Amino acid sequence: MAELIVALDVQTREEAVAKVKAIGDGVGFYKIGLELYTAEGPDVVKAVKDLGKKVFLDLKFHDIPRTVERAVRSGGKLGVDLMTIHSVGGAAMIRAAADAAAEFGASKPRILAVTVLTSMDEQDLRDVGIVGRTPAEQVSAMAQFAVGNGADGLVCSPREVGALSKALKQGTLFITPGVRPAGAAVGDQKRVATPADAVRDGATHLVVGRPILAAEDPVAAAAAILKEMSL
Ligand code: C5P
Repeated sequence: MAELIVALDVQTREEAVAKVKAIGDGVGFYKIGLELYTAEGPDVVKAVKDLGKKVFLDLKFHDIPRTVERAVRSGGKLGVDLMTIHSVGGAAMIRAAADAAAEFGASKPRILAVTVLTSMDEQDLRDVGIVGRTPAEQVSAMAQFAVGNGADGLVCSPREVGALSKALKQGTLFITPGVRPAGAAVGDQKRVATPADAVRDGATHLVVGRPILAAEDPVAAAAAILKEMSL
């Protein structure tokens, strides 16, 4: 059964806590990203955990292995459930993240790798020295590389999840943003899928922000998405 993660794209701890309370019992998992974490730091993670929720800390680490290892350990101590790294940080960095996470045993943070940012096209890849591969080929190669070196899963677009979930080993996590319930506003997302399609294609976690955060009735909006996920 896939899980719904609400992207807590707000600017303050107070707003974050108010949103989590307003969304209520229906949602048990929240994503804290760069904007909120840079503004409020670990206190906001603790506040969401104190409300009994799971936390996906999406800071996309990319640094030397020792630094990433220590950052993952800090996340583990905060009780974070999912964390992100960039797969282009290399094999040693990915393994360092996985090893640090493993120290937390059954309650370990799962490590998710970003393959290619969805904002990058073929020219952007060439600009950073990745020549002769399309973004799709690079996504597929980096996915195998990251999971092969110990990542628990991948962040991927709804367009990629079908092929990746077939190609990678059983138990790999697939976290998919860009999800829009049928008929919802797309916003700035270019390639979207409905919750039902994403789950059918193999997504294990869906990340949804504005369709719930900006809804007049966030409880009903979340319930509708959960229903679509179970279809
Ligand atoms: O509001 P919306 O549902 O578009 O929010 C999606 C969330 O997922 C945002 O926090 C966004 O930064 C994140 N995300 C994304 N696309 C990616 C990676 C992350 O939309 N490729």
